[in-house]
Amino acid sequence: MAQANPFQDPLRFERRVPSCAVVIFGANGDLTKRKLLPSLYRLAFERRLPQGFAVVGISRTAMSDDDFRQKMEASVKEFLENSPFDQALWDDFCRGLFYLAGDVADEGMYGRLAARLEEIAKSRQTAGNALFYLSTQPDHYGPAAGGLGRAGLAKSSNGAWRRLVVEKPFGHDETSARELETQLHEHFSEDQLYRIDHYLGKETVQNILAFRFGNPLFEPLWNRRYINHVQITAAESIGVEGRGAYYQGAGALRDMIQNHLLQVLSTVAMEPSAVFEPTAVRDERAKLLRSIRVYRPNEVPDYAVAGQYGPARVGGKDLPGFREEPGVDAQAMTDTYAAVTFQIENWRWAGVPFYVRTGKRMPKRVTDIAIRFNPVPHSLFVTEGDGGAAIDTARPNMLILRIQPEEGISLRFSSKQPGAGMKLRPVSMDFNYGTSFGGRTPTAYETLLVDAMVGDATLYTRQDMVEASWTAVQPILDGWNDHKAGQFPNYPAGTWGPKASDDMLARNGHEWRVP
Ligand code: BG6
Repeated sequence: MAQANPFQDPLRFERRVPSCAVVIFGANGDLTKRKLLPSLYRLAFERRLPQGFAVVGISRTAMSDDDFRQKMEASVKEFLENSPFDQALWDDFCRGLFYLAGDVADEGMYGRLAARLEEIAKSRQTAGNALFYLSTQPDHYGPAAGGLGRAGLAKSSNGAWRRLVVEKPFGHDETSARELETQLHEHFSEDQLYRIDHYLGKETVQNILAFRFGNPLFEPLWNRRYINHVQITAAESIGVEGRGAYYQGAGALRDMIQNHLLQVLSTVAMEPSAVFEPTAVRDERAKLLRSIRVYRPNEVPDYAVAGQYGPARVGGKDLPGFREEPGVDAQAMTDTYAAVTFQIENWRWAGVPFYVRTGKRMPKRVTDIAIRFNPVPHSLFVTEGDGGAAIDTARPNMLILRIQPEEGISLRFSSKQPGAGMKLRPVSMDFNYGTSFGGRTPTAYETLLVDAMVGDATLYTRQDMVEASWTAVQPILDGWNDHKAGQFPNYPAGTWGPKASDDMLARNGHEWRVP
């Protein structure tokens, strides 16, 4: 019989947020208004925040506390997804919002921040605890961490804690990622650092762990003997939405695969940890990321495909190509689509391809993981395909973990078609979050903010994980840099990406599933 684990601390599962101040660098930015403030407000709405709580926004724009409060009220109203706005609650919540105008490069600003935090600790009873959140341009991360450190703000004192949340990107390549780590570590220890990857906070991504390690049914099949290959898709129908200048320097491989999708892959493929505890879980993720095969430059064309969307008319609308987007060069060589065949070199996964693809301006927004099982060893029946045509082998079973937007899990298998004879047809067994649980699920940022305030880094990435994912993608970036000149654009907006991506799978006798 399963026993309660004596190493598990039940209090960690209660998520009681201690008194604290959240200090946001980049308070005038997109993330603050779209995600951070709506999430904090939502936590207040659900009575998840403590009495002693405050938010300090920092950016260069001159604003009073009141201006900031009004601006945030408008943002919360606009970006609060599927939640009511309660004016009385907001009026109370916003008394804890403060603003400091300042430049991360100005050493004097950190002294002013320290003084402000001291005042706030008294007036709002935050107990001196502070969660610093870097949501600025990435080149400000190092200077901000340094400024906080030199002003003595990185040091925990009198039992109060100090933590630093860092938004992606963690570096632009392997070298800059290491430089950033050195800068962060100058003043903050690893256990104070919370590198956020919002995909890990998504309920459906967390549920992969629950599905795998909370159910004995599938785990015996979760290996090379039964699984043929895995497809991870993160398709977006939007283009670069005013982020052309940033995106041009990043591209799909850096923007989505190096971080979010490799974290998803590690969640699907990692070994079970002995306990559900930050170090143990992250050790397993890191181990998995380190077992990804690192390609030699001459292998890159076989295992990775880059794409860029060109203009197209979709649904009666003219969509611009990437090179026509505002802020983008007419000759930009950025990948707006990337597909990679990853190979995991360990006993569980040797020989099982993990195909990962992501792209902007795809036909629809969908993120899912398709796990394709091996076919039956010997076929007895006739299977009828989706279109009704007879095919002579049973379809391989497929498990689909649907991350968004229709969250759930589906199991595809073959069933006898009613009537004479023994014709098989693929059918599906579906679990749907909405139907099973009802209610509203917390957004990734709500979950992750609570975790950081509680001091639980299980769903945050760690330096060795960041480095291992860069090691896996760097040769691809280098390979593309050397060879791809002159090929873009290579897929029209509104389609599933370049043909080379289909060819990559076809070489193994596989094809992309249409999600
Ligand atoms: C961000 C990327 O990290 O994730 C964006 O920078 C992308 O380009 C976004 O659109 C996708 O997140 P989600 O939660 O909408 O899938």
